[in-house]
Amino acid sequence: MDEKKVMLSGIQPSGDLHLGNYLGAIRNWGARAEEFDCYYFMADMHTITVRQEPAALRRRTLEQLAQYIACGLDPEKNTLFIQSHVHQHAELGWVLNCYTMFGELSRMTQFKDKAAKHAENINGGLFTYPALMAADILLYQPDFVPVGDDQKQHVELTRDVAQRFNGIYGDVFKVPEPYIPKTGARIMSLNAPDTKMSKSIPEGCVFLMEKPEDIQRKFKRAITDSDTENCVRYDPASKPGVANLMAIYSAVTGKTYEAIEAEFAGMGYGKFKPAVGDAVVEALRPIREEATRIMADKAYLESVYRAGAEKASYVAEKTLRKVYKKIGFVAR
Ligand code: TYM
Repeated sequence: MDEKKVMLSGIQPSGDLHLGNYLGAIRNWGARAEEFDCYYFMADMHTITVRQEPAALRRRTLEQLAQYIACGLDPEKNTLFIQSHVHQHAELGWVLNCYTMFGELSRMTQFKDKAAKHAENINGGLFTYPALMAADILLYQPDFVPVGDDQKQHVELTRDVAQRFNGIYGDVFKVPEPYIPKTGARIMSLNAPDTKMSKSIPEGCVFLMEKPEDIQRKFKRAITDSDTENCVRYDPASKPGVANLMAIYSAVTGKTYEAIEAEFAGMGYGKFKPAVGDAVVEALRPIREEATRIMADKAYLESVYRAGAEKASYVAEKTLRKVYKKIGFVAR
């Protein structure tokens, strides 16, 4: 049997991938492929909790796959698949809906945020989303789920659901740990440093495929702080804008906050902001070029997602069968 530990994560193709997705999640996925058995997917089923334009969803799902590969996820070493291609997600999702409590779902901050943003469409799926996410995870019996800080609450709920289920039926699910990076776990919007970077504020959000000049413009316009100090110093409480830029710079260059303070001593924000922009442009350049190349090869992408779905489905089916047996469904 395979002795490797298992890692799994997913991203919704509801918008183009951005620097928050990259630094908070994807960057921490690829490096571990030798050590772990890795499953990464496009969480398309999750996106329809909010209305999507069908053609755009289809395009973004494939672009996301090309970008995963361009970020270093070798399809030979990682199982890359589209969530809706593996029907076991929907099936286990239903089962886990029945083991997830109304009160637990009501406490999820992502639900509260999205319900406030989409007041005209607070559908059942938006509410029960974490049960599907628990299914996404538990089907593969992973040890670790590498995510940014904002998904920690969902992974913790997944642990609670797994423990509840195991408590009734014996050890069916492995109880996974969230795996959150030290720097980059919560990248904030460049023009609103009190809000996390997300596609909903495009001016404060840097997209992986964005042109270098647009990235530079966003960094030059980034909000620094209203203090008069004009000094690059890591102090998230009183200088959140500068701290965010330092976190980004540190994440893409590997430099410590102390080294960054020393590098920009006496220079002020006018020099610092374009330097962060340059570092990000250089970090993203090879990804953008490679993703553009891969995106043009539709046959290759298809071969990757087909093989990925086949492998994922095989693993997912084993868990689903065990679950159905435990809860008393008659085997087909
Ligand atoms: P999603 O699609 O919103 O985000 C994907 C990943 O990117 C991270 N992230 C960030 N990290 C740092 N700073 C930011 N500003 C930032 N914005 C996003 C997220 O933490 C996440 O790791 N429900 C999930 C998708 C999902 C999933 C799963 C994840 C579905 N099933 C199973 C793991 C396992 C979501 O909406 O992430």
